[in-house]
Amino acid sequence: MKVREHWGSRLGFVLAAVGSAVGLGNIWKFPFITGMYGGAAFVLFYLISILLIGLPVMLIEFSIGRKTQLNPVGAFQKLAPSSPYFLIGAMGVLCGFIILSYYSVVAGWTLTYMYKAVAFGFKDFSSPEIAGEAFTAYSSSPIWPVLSHAVFMFLCIFVVSKGVKVGIERWNRILMPTLFVIILLLIVRGLTLEGADAGLKFLFVPDFSKLTANAMLVAMGHAFFTLSLGMGAMLTYGSYLSEKEDLVKSSLWIIVADTGVALLAGIAIFTAVFAMGFEPAGGPGLVFHVLPAIFSMMPGGNIMGFLFFALLSIAALTSGMSLLEVVTAYFIDQKGWSRRKASIAFGFLIFLVGVPSALSFGALKEIIIFKMNLFDFFDYLSFKYMLPLGGFFMVLFTIFRWKPKSLLEELKRGGPGLKISVGLATVLLLISAVFVGVTFVAGVLGVG
Ligand code: TRP
Repeated sequence: MKVREHWGSRLGFVLAAVGSAVGLGNIWKFPFITGMYGGAAFVLFYLISILLIGLPVMLIEFSIGRKTQLNPVGAFQKLAPSSPYFLIGAMGVLCGFIILSYYSVVAGWTLTYMYKAVAFGFKDFSSPEIAGEAFTAYSSSPIWPVLSHAVFMFLCIFVVSKGVKVGIERWNRILMPTLFVIILLLIVRGLTLEGADAGLKFLFVPDFSKLTANAMLVAMGHAFFTLSLGMGAMLTYGSYLSEKEDLVKSSLWIIVADTGVALLAGIAIFTAVFAMGFEPAGGPGLVFHVLPAIFSMMPGGNIMGFLFFALLSIAALTSGMSLLEVVTAYFIDQKGWSRRKASIAFGFLIFLVGVPSALSFGALKEIIIFKMNLFDFFDYLSFKYMLPLGGFFMVLFTIFRWKPKSLLEELKRGGPGLKISVGLATVLLLISAVFVGVTFVAGVLGVG
């Protein structure tokens, strides 16, 4: 049997996992939901959710991955032979496939805007309305979104085909520090603008009256999404770990870095938004309508615009790699394919599946499933249903089949582990199962 490839160093592994976790969710979702749902009050509840839901599921994924040294499907088969538990892994691999197919479309937009910043500096985008029209024209074109989606998938394939150490680890070692430097530059610019403090107020002044039940559900769902949990991405990265790694410590670092980037991105963005007198928005509206207008007015806006879209592209690329790696690892381990063949074949297939999403704002606008266009449908299916469901079953698997005792034992290899009794671990897992279950049901019912 072939020896499994391992990460070259602890830092390399942590950076890769942070790379997976830090994505579009941190930069275009977190800052906005924070401002909308009560600032510091929301952040506080989000941190509680991370500890109650995020940390347990992350520990489970890393432990199962390291213990079995396999992809999500193989891992569950190994721990629970001849049982349907492998379906958790199968759903994860499928989910990786689906998410990447449209995540790559958005990532393609950010690549294009990076280019636009250099080429035109957003000169003509003098208001969010004008920038918005330009964005609609761009995203509904039959050519550009498909081409940029192709470029992004090519980059993911390029990195993943090289391997864990020479591909994924090496690129994360270059890209993640770059991402941190860019954020710091953007923050300095944001904070030195006149009127920046209104942005800080929006983000951080606690307003407990906005912390409604709905806000709490949003926080719980986001805790899951932002850490790339529930589909085996962290499980797969964990499968390249050796016994020497302290899983608890690494997980805490990953969580701190992910939350840190989200908060810093929030500061960079909302100081600028408020200083320039705009309304805060979320998602595509923020990134492709409001921010280009800001960059067109702000001193140094050309460079800042380029840096911002480079930041988004890097965040998306390091997440995209981890998604492609889940699918690739499955075909290497289970089907005996070479890494090169698996990553190229499936990268290409994911590109093809993503083409309709890339066209869903223009040529294929008319195709509506459950009142959503194709892009929104894939987004909804994976994030609202598949991730929470996957996480829910992973926790149940650990409680009832693998057993909390095995989890605690695995956590003890390579570090002090968690110094809690099996009984307490079971209770904590049950609590997180309930919370993940509530998040899922709320998603199905359309709250949150
Ligand atoms: N964590 C990513 C973000 O914040 C999104 C994401 C969710 C993801 N699940 C994933 C990325 C699985 C890679 C793998 O944007």
